[in-house]
Amino acid sequence: MDRVLIIDFGSQVTKLIARRIRELGIYSEVMPYFKVKKDNLKSNNIKGVIFSGGPRSVNLKDSPKLPNFVYESSIPILGICYGLQLIAKNFGGTIRLSEDREFGRREISVTKSSPLIKNVYVKEKKSQVWMSHSDHVENLPKNFERIASTQSCSSVIIQNLKLKIFGVQFHPEVSHTVGGTKILGNFIFDICKCKKTWNMKSFKTEIIQKLKDTINDKKVVCGLSGGVDSTVTAILLDKAIGKNLKCILVDTGLMRKDEVKTIKDLFTKVYDINLKVVNAKKIFLKELQGVTNPEKKRKIIGKIFIRIFEKNSLNDKNTEFLAQGTLYPDVIESVSNMGDKSVTIKSHHNVGGLPKKMKLKLVEPLRELFKDEVRGLGRELKIPDEFIRRHPFPGPGLGIRILGEVNEKSLKMLREADDIFIRLLKQKKLYDKIWQAFCVLLPTKTVGVMGDNRTYEKICVIRAVTSTDGMTAEPYSFNKSFLQNCSTEIINNVKGINRVCYDYTSKPPGTIEFE
Ligand code: XMP
Repeated sequence: MDRVLIIDFGSQVTKLIARRIRELGIYSEVMPYFKVKKDNLKSNNIKGVIFSGGPRSVNLKDSPKLPNFVYESSIPILGICYGLQLIAKNFGGTIRLSEDREFGRREISVTKSSPLIKNVYVKEKKSQVWMSHSDHVENLPKNFERIASTQSCSSVIIQNLKLKIFGVQFHPEVSHTVGGTKILGNFIFDICKCKKTWNMKSFKTEIIQKLKDTINDKKVVCGLSGGVDSTVTAILLDKAIGKNLKCILVDTGLMRKDEVKTIKDLFTKVYDINLKVVNAKKIFLKELQGVTNPEKKRKIIGKIFIRIFEKNSLNDKNTEFLAQGTLYPDVIESVSNMGDKSVTIKSHHNVGGLPKKMKLKLVEPLRELFKDEVRGLGRELKIPDEFIRRHPFPGPGLGIRILGEVNEKSLKMLREADDIFIRLLKQKKLYDKIWQAFCVLLPTKTVGVMGDNRTYEKICVIRAVTSTDGMTAEPYSFNKSFLQNCSTEIINNVKGINRVCYDYTSKPPGTIEFE
């Protein structure tokens, strides 16, 4: 399988490059710049290398650099933003801080043709790209040509055809760059000569065979959450090892309305999968009693979950593996991820918290995929669409959507409100346009009036965001009548709620969940 190596210098959008390349049908991998070794370029059918953007200036003493063997490998290179500046500096050009920094949409003028922009940008015509840079190339290195410029940046596209090294100051991976994906396509197909080999059908066949070979006749335990990742993981394993798979669904009591029944029906009626549902509602509620601190709640939920999971999975000596729905964005080692590691924003909990304690070997069949690729694989596996399209749901469930103490009464209220909101979204065909939508119950009460009577009840917040990977998010812009309708439906049907608010916070500065 032909591959493209993306060397990460810490850009916020490095993962997008990987996505775009895969959308074009080529497998791509992201690697932090300081991990690149000679062997990475020799092995694995690497046909092209892309340098990402990054927040630093190449003129700083300790700025990220690459060893010479990368430039000398004869593998075509495309540098993006910082990547272009690094190439220019490496070959003897000079880089300067611009007086006019360029952020957002910009127009470029093409002065020369290049295989990189073939059938995308036309000579003497302006085209729109997306920029985010302070430095620019002041003097081009010897043997490099200038292909395009903007008013304040003379080298927006550069090339050395003989060495097959190219650079773009803008971000072709970002959707605001007109023709950006075509430029990446020109690079990987025309310049790197990659052959399209990455598709879900071949991936499915390959991964099922790999699972068969790895697991053999041993048994696997798989924790289900009801989300698309654990569902696809379980169905893949079912295809690979059948009866040697045991799925466990812990009913924490913090699930959405009818969630346990829906999962049970899929696994037992549509498929014939060995599923054990463990009813642990009482334990969760008991231990969460009186707890209001979000981190404490998360830790309590995570711990009980592990305890119950262990108790119900370790009694079979033949169980050698634990299956998890870990995705590529969770395993990808990027420079920006490493920077984030020092601060715990939230202690994430999912079945991923299990292995350190459990001494089972891990199987993670989705670790090479992005979320929407998992959905594609789910379709390939013919899993009912209703499951594939589901919004992500956090491990701690409604426990982190009820602010303050979690109790039976609040859970009932939230479940009903959430069910109404999601039903209305589906009715209006908005569900699939949104990355994640849910209701949150606030611990404060406000005064209202219903049928001549005073009410003093809780506030429900509606949250709906668009996102590509949950790392950043934007609030969804509903029209007024939809929000008014949601508010009326929730207040009229859920006892205990007399006010509904809509959350307009992006991430950052907010997070998607409230706790
Ligand atoms: P935040 O709230 O951090 O959420 O912006 C980003 C995405 O992660 C989900 N989330 C979790 N998923 N275990 C999970 O499996 C967790 O503990 C957890 N906390 C948040 C959240 O729903 C959103 O999709």
